[in-house]
Amino acid sequence: MTDESPTTPGPPLNVFDYEALARARMPGPLWDFVCAGADDEVTLAENRRAFERVAIRPRVLVDVGKVDVTTRLLGDAAAAPIMIAPFGPQGAMWADGDLAVARAAGAVGLALVAGSGASRTIEDIAAAASAPVWLQLYLYPERERTLALVRRAEAAGCRSIALTVDSARFGRKERSLRTEDQFDWPEAANLAGLPPATAPWVRGAPATWDDVDWLMSATKLPLVLKGVLTGEDAAIAAARGVAGIVVSNHGGRQLDGAVASLDALPEVVEAVAGRCEVYLDGGVRRGTDILKALALGARAVMVGRPVAWGLTATGQDGVADVLRMLTTELVLAMRLAGRSTLADIDRAAVR
Ligand SMILES: Cc1cc2nc3c(=O)[nH]c(=O)nc-3n(C[C@H](O)[C@H](O)[C@H](O)COP(=O)(O)O)c2cc1C
Repeated sequence: MTDESPTTPGPPLNVFDYEALARARMPGPLWDFVCAGADDEVTLAENRRAFERVAIRPRVLVDVGKVDVTTRLLGDAAAAPIMIAPFGPQGAMWADGDLAVARAAGAVGLALVAGSGASRTIEDIAAAASAPVWLQLYLYPERERTLALVRRAEAAGCRSIALTVDSARFGRKERSLRTEDQFDWPEAANLAGLPPATAPWVRGAPATWDDVDWLMSATKLPLVLKGVLTGEDAAIAAARGVAGIVVSNHGGRQLDGAVASLDALPEVVEAVAGRCEVYLDGGVRRGTDILKALALGARAVMVGRPVAWGLTATGQDGVADVLRMLTTELVLAMRLAGRSTLADIDRAAVR
């Protein structure tokens, strides 16, 4: 989209307008890092195409005078079935960007998944957000380091730990490889307070199911696995008692050629059979995308890059505006599809 569209005159109408605004403001190397998918970016593109392949089956002559998009995620109230995905470096996109995103989450009443590599501590982020905060976790090779961060998340009032499980190694984001050290990468603030590493930290220490069991035994916080793409893994996760699964390919940044999130969603939903909550991220850019994901069984979606675009354009206000746009678009989509509650968005809503 961006390659063709000039910077939009007038106020942004949709998240793609924020993409254009962000592109005009972001230094090239940072822009490439945020845009990038792995290798040939096939999965990145497929995440969007998968939404285009699904058609909505609207019902007519339904009373849609009142539309309710409020929901509960892991028991906490949410203004809409939308969450902010963990992404960075927010501190390079806006001054104190991590806090701007946290304040925006509170302003719109949507949960925020804070990255463990954020440029502000989880304590600062939780204090700035008057909305539920989840801590995204990559495991450190040393369990005591991981545990120290989990304890801090508990003390800061975080509502869940979201363990990213698609990152045994980091994918090669070739679009960004040559320039990713050319922007100011803020320090990972959480690391400062942790026990010292016993070895240089390989980012994305590989986790196994044993680590999942260990983590669930080590904390009472509900555990969400982020980055599941198959019914097989979803069944194992549900049997082990996780509270939630994010169907995600990391925004196309890990395994190129991996299935699009929306295409993977139905088999995950089927395998889980209601035992835990299922969310989706990857390519959500429109309220109609959210409607499609919910129709295929997601309880909510997460958004990554659109939040980065809003943050880069106008900070906290831009993030809040992006999230409000998606919510408003969802409400309109529901009205036009003859669905007045989220529960009405059933499998028959799409083809
Ligand atoms: C710049 C950038 C940084 C990201 N960093 C992380 C991260 O540290 N941990 C993580 O679990 N996911 C990370 N993600 C993936 C997002 O959480 C999310 O899965 C993805 O962005 C969703 O796709 P979307 O950008 O199309 O909405 C990152 C994504 C982007 C674009």
